[in-house]
Amino acid sequence: MSRMSTLCLLIALLCLAGCSAKEAPVAEAPPPPETPAPPPPTEVTDDELSYRNEPLLDDSGTPEAVFDSPDPGDSQMGNRAFENAPPVIPHNTDGLLPITTDENSCTDCHLPEEAADVGATPVPASHLYDMRNNKQLDGLNPANYNCTLCHAPQANTGELVENTFEPYYRAKEQKERSNLLDILNEGVE
Ligand code: HEC
Ligand code: HEC
Repeated sequence: MSRMSTLCLLIALLCLAGCSAKEAPVAEAPPPPETPAPPPPTEVTDDELSYRNEPLLDDSGTPEAVFDSPDPGDSQMGNRAFENAPPVIPHNTDGLLPITTDENSCTDCHLPEEAADVGATPVPASHLYDMRNNKQLDGLNPANYNCTLCHAPQANTGELVENTFEPYYRAKEQKERSNLLDILNEGVE
């Protein structure tokens, strides 16, 4: 067969194939296997989300928090919630809040030079140190001025959710004393 006729035959065959493909009945795609319908979404109502079992946005049933701790000097200090946690304020803060730029009664009793006289725990070394610039300060670091940012007064309320957290203290003194500045670089240096 000449090259020319082979080519012709090929073209003819291709045409035939193309035509027959066109004419062949279009095979229907098999139906997809049936996927089970997802279960209808279970609605979680606001009431169920709330630990009070009341609509989230309605706080009318919230039990009133009663802050009735004894006066400074008469209260019982508690343990740290965990090692080097900021201790809670065991006494009431009547007349001591808000802390303003001109008035911070907490410092009257808790700065190291005052604390011993009134039987209060002095602020720890970390509050007299500028960690950002690694510098010992003469007095309170202004970053620690707003005490109640970290130290919270205690209200008499029930537990809404049971708390099973068990703190671990590496040394038993750390239950009632902090030493953050001493141990801050542990494992680094
Ligand atoms: C009149 C002095 C006085 C003033 C003012 C005062 N405190 Fe106290 N604070 C004490 C004494 C004393 C204690 C020790 C517990 C006791 O005897 O009531 C104490 C305990 C604490 C403790 C617990 C310390 C520990 O080792 O567990 C914290 C935290 C604290 N006070 C924070 C504050 C903050 C914050 C303010 C300001 C809102 C403040 N205190 C104002 C006297 C005072
Ligand atoms: C930015 C958070 C923060 C602020 C603000 C702050 N504290 Fe603290 N405080 C802590 C933490 C954390 C600790 C425990 C770890 C440490 O620093 O040694 C602590 C510990 C203490 C202790 C226990 C000291 C000891 O030897 O156990 C006292 C008392 C205290 N703070 C008083 C104050 C007072 C008073 C102010 C305000 C003048 C204040 N703190 C502001 C975080 C804060």
